[in-house]
Amino acid sequence: MGVKLGILGLGTVGTGTVQLLQNSGFRHPLLQSVEIYRVGVRSLDKPRTVTLPESVLTTDLEAIVTDPAIDIVVEVMGGLEPARSLILKAIQNGKHVVTANKAAISRFGDEIFSAANQAGVYVMLEAAVGGGIPVIQPLKQSLSVNSIHTITGIVNGTTNYILSRMQTEGSHFSDVLADAQRLGYAEADPTADVDGLDAADKIAILASLAFSGRIKLEDVYSEGIRQISKTDIAYAEKLGFVIKLLAIANRTTPSSSLSPISVRVHPTLVPKTHPLASINGVNNAILIEGEPIGQVMLFGPGAGAGATASAVSSDILNLVAVLKTSTSVQNSLLKCGHQDYCQIVPMAELITRFYTRFLTQDQPGVIGKLGTCFGNHGVSLESIVQTGFQGELAEIVVVTHDVREGDFRQALTEIHTLAAVDTIPSLLRVL
Ligand code: NAP
Ligand code: HSE
Repeated sequence: MGVKLGILGLGTVGTGTVQLLQNSGFRHPLLQSVEIYRVGVRSLDKPRTVTLPESVLTTDLEAIVTDPAIDIVVEVMGGLEPARSLILKAIQNGKHVVTANKAAISRFGDEIFSAANQAGVYVMLEAAVGGGIPVIQPLKQSLSVNSIHTITGIVNGTTNYILSRMQTEGSHFSDVLADAQRLGYAEADPTADVDGLDAADKIAILASLAFSGRIKLEDVYSEGIRQISKTDIAYAEKLGFVIKLLAIANRTTPSSSLSPISVRVHPTLVPKTHPLASINGVNNAILIEGEPIGQVMLFGPGAGAGATASAVSSDILNLVAVLKTSTSVQNSLLKCGHQDYCQIVPMAELITRFYTRFLTQDQPGVIGKLGTCFGNHGVSLESIVQTGFQGELAEIVVVTHDVREGDFRQALTEIHTLAAVDTIPSLLRVL
């Protein structure tokens, strides 16, 4: 018996998936029975780079998710609505779902997985995080016996591509962003990439799997890369760091599986010796730390048609295997079972190092005043150096030891009141 797919969307990911499924050279024997039965798009007139029978393309996506002939709905259209409603309707109609839509899953996962569990179908999302990197199934299956305490990831290909090119070529942010869009890495609205929101969606999904609890997206702190300047990239380089947009989820007490977790996305100074420092271009990497496994790093292309199609197709393959096995019991390694929310600590309680760049009057005693303000709030400094001038103003770069973020912010508030301090152009966390 053939397995019929209804694919919602034929853009970068949909086209890559159709190409992969049509290429008999790549086909796993189980995929030989898969039929691309319907593909839903917005416009029938748009030129396409894949050839499909005319009867397959439709603009009626509702008809796809309710069609009794379809077994699996592959949602690669993106966006929140109508994607959410179509996924829910597919589930209500007894269809398994494959989706690459981290935005919809991180916001509506609660509703979607509850509906799927009730309907006895699976919602698979390998392509939603890390593009072509298998990370969802490893967290759900291969690593599930471990007690995970930290996930540190470069999970947005667009921003990693931009930062890497700014670092190696001294390119301008806007030129590199245009290239990322042309190459199909960026979201339809690249704000989600650049402002850290796409990475926040992804770390919420990974944290939920790693810590077996639901995550409210509004609890995930996120900061993007718009403010990263060539000056900071150069200072970071001199100090032995590279700047990366990191998505981090960790237990505040690694040894306690009951301690609250911190979930955040921000540009970070990463020591050049750290494994994540060498991840460049559109590549992503996810470093998973737990017991008894120690450290595992998953690395690969984080965006793009072929890479993402590989992840979508692996989910399709898993579902075909399920459909070919006659059982009415859901496989607990494929389904999403947790119901409760994780306890997230506020950013003020975060313990981290900071890099800060100050522009000040070039007067005697300024460095001493900065040191006093930091000392007043228990902020211990690793280094403080006057590095040069910008016009009349002296440029001072500070790197702290581990501090409580709330204490550091209070010190900065006091520093802002010093007459000698002109501006604080940069404030970045250090890994
Ligand atoms: P895309 O290139 O913009 O393609 C979207 C497709 O969906 C287009 O074919 C569009 O139809 C169709 N579509 C969108 N809204 C529709 C609507 N309301 N009704 C009918 N059709 C609609 O997007 P993409 O880059 O492939 O991304 C798709 C999903 O995969 C997103 O959730 C994204 O976050 C995720 N993802 C993307 C990548 C990547 O590298 N691009 C990687 C991982 C995950 P038309 O063609 O007629 O306009
Ligand atoms: N826009 C996303 C990125 C696509 O750049 O990582 C992959 O999820």
